[in-house]
Amino acid sequence: MSRSIQGKITVLGIRARKGAPGKQDKLVVLTAYDYPTARALDQSGIDILLVGDSLGMVVLGHDTTLPVTLEVMLHHTAAVARARPRALVVADMPFLSYHTGPADAVRHAGRFLQEAGAEAVKVEGGRSRADIVRAIVAADIPVMGHIGLTPQAVNALGGYRVQGKTLSQVDALLADARALEQAGVFALVLEGIPARVGALVTQAVSVPTIGIGAGPECDGQVLVTHDLLGFTSTAPARFVRRYADLNAAIVDAGRRFAEDVRGGSYPSERESYPAPPELEAELDTRLAPEAVTEPRR
Ligand code: KIV
Repeated sequence: MSRSIQGKITVLGIRARKGAPGKQDKLVVLTAYDYPTARALDQSGIDILLVGDSLGMVVLGHDTTLPVTLEVMLHHTAAVARARPRALVVADMPFLSYHTGPADAVRHAGRFLQEAGAEAVKVEGGRSRADIVRAIVAADIPVMGHIGLTPQAVNALGGYRVQGKTLSQVDALLADARALEQAGVFALVLEGIPARVGALVTQAVSVPTIGIGAGPECDGQVLVTHDLLGFTSTAPARFVRRYADLNAAIVDAGRRFAEDVRGGSYPSERESYPAPPELEAELDTRLAPEAVTEPRR
């Protein structure tokens, strides 16, 4: 029995989209952390569903991505993969799951494919991660790189700051990008760097770049879905474009439900199950006002 999905997006297909001439060929990436969101976003025709460790902040309420564990990422990745999307499923390797050496990194990356159904993993960091990326790729696990503002390094970076603002930082970013390209990444996320630096890095490597706050010249763009949907409590970053106000929609729906319950209009007869006709007479008797006793406490 064939289990292939019509038009399934693969890492080779993503890799081939480098420098695509038409803007319609730009790579489109969004985060997903659960089954229904993965299904809906896949129907919208995007290329990659990224199970980002941003889930620690936008879904679990942490201040940073650092508390997110391997088990949490596996749990959410499996939910996304169950949508059997056409889009490529990429799982973020969380803090400390690849920092302790190539053997741990390969074992942990392998769990995303073997147990959770991911098709690739993402690793943050540049030259210092090249050996780890090489080891994971050698185990036939495709790796997406991530440089610039790398949120797992928030403490080392002194906060969520735009990177690549001095010439030496720009040269370091180029060296990082080339080291990851050499190590075998199939794509590279560029986060929080000036637009022209995003253009420079994009020009310098043969793999597609996917920008988030890295300007329009990248080969693709990624956003955190909760930002795009207006479903966060904090002010959006400069690069976020909102396409919905889900927070307001949810507050409104909850308020109207509360009004209907308190006002007695919910549930209506149509929203209630009828009793079988043969019970009606007996229920009439038992529900008669004189038959109703005080509820037991
Ligand atoms: O965790 C995440 O969602 C990410 C993207 C913002 C690239 O790493």
